[in-house]
Amino acid sequence: MSQQSLTPEYFDALYKTDSDPWKFETSDYEAEKYAATLAALPKPRYHSAFEIGGSIGVLTEMLAERCDSLLSVDVSDKAQQQAIVRCQHLPHVRFQLMQVPQSYPDEWFDLTVLSEVGYYWCWQDLKAAQQLILDHLEPGGHLLLVHWTPYADYYDNPLSGDEVHEAFLALPSSQLQHLGGKRAEKYRIDLFERVGENSLG
Ligand SMILES: C[S@@+](CC[C@H](N)C(=O)[O-])C[C@H]1O[C@@H](n2cnc3c(N)ncnc32)[C@H](O)[C@@H]1O
Repeated sequence: MSQQSLTPEYFDALYKTDSDPWKFETSDYEAEKYAATLAALPKPRYHSAFEIGGSIGVLTEMLAERCDSLLSVDVSDKAQQQAIVRCQHLPHVRFQLMQVPQSYPDEWFDLTVLSEVGYYWCWQDLKAAQQLILDHLEPGGHLLLVHWTPYADYYDNPLSGDEVHEAFLALPSSQLQHLGGKRAEKYRIDLFERVGENSLG
């Protein structure tokens, strides 16, 4: 098992070999999971949403329908260039190249989406990312986690999907309340609500 977070170079190399390495555009599995992801959002609209690891923008474009403003970040320029083209008809969607948790936007959000990204972090980066997510989530704001759960020893991921979700479930409920979750055959979704004051407040 790798102990370091996977690097921007790792992801750029993946996108260089295949412009859609996970078949986000064409897979029935991804389409069903995206529908479940959107269905898990309890509010019809969010005013300021943040997507960590937006990749080529397939989920980004869907999320944009539910947001007045959406910031999508990714470490891979190759992936994000595709997302920018896909979402060029959506002026309320902004893009930034950003490696979380080494950087984080200087903004508050009422929705943060972490979909298929958390297991690329090492434990230390996951803990740092958790704190930043909490610090930049408005009280009453939602955090949506979506991760693939099967174990595969041929992957380089430092963490499993379950380890990511369990780490958020282990945070004090005085900070982050678990509103509900769903476990499908190959993925899980968990929804949380920010409780109390964050450090920016
Ligand atoms: C499997 S894709 C997930 C795409 C999208 N969220 C979805 O669910 O369809 C993971 C993306 O996260 C990006 N990524 C990996 N580590 C990251 C980090 N530390 N900060 C920001 N993005 C990251 C990768 O470049 C890749 O595009």
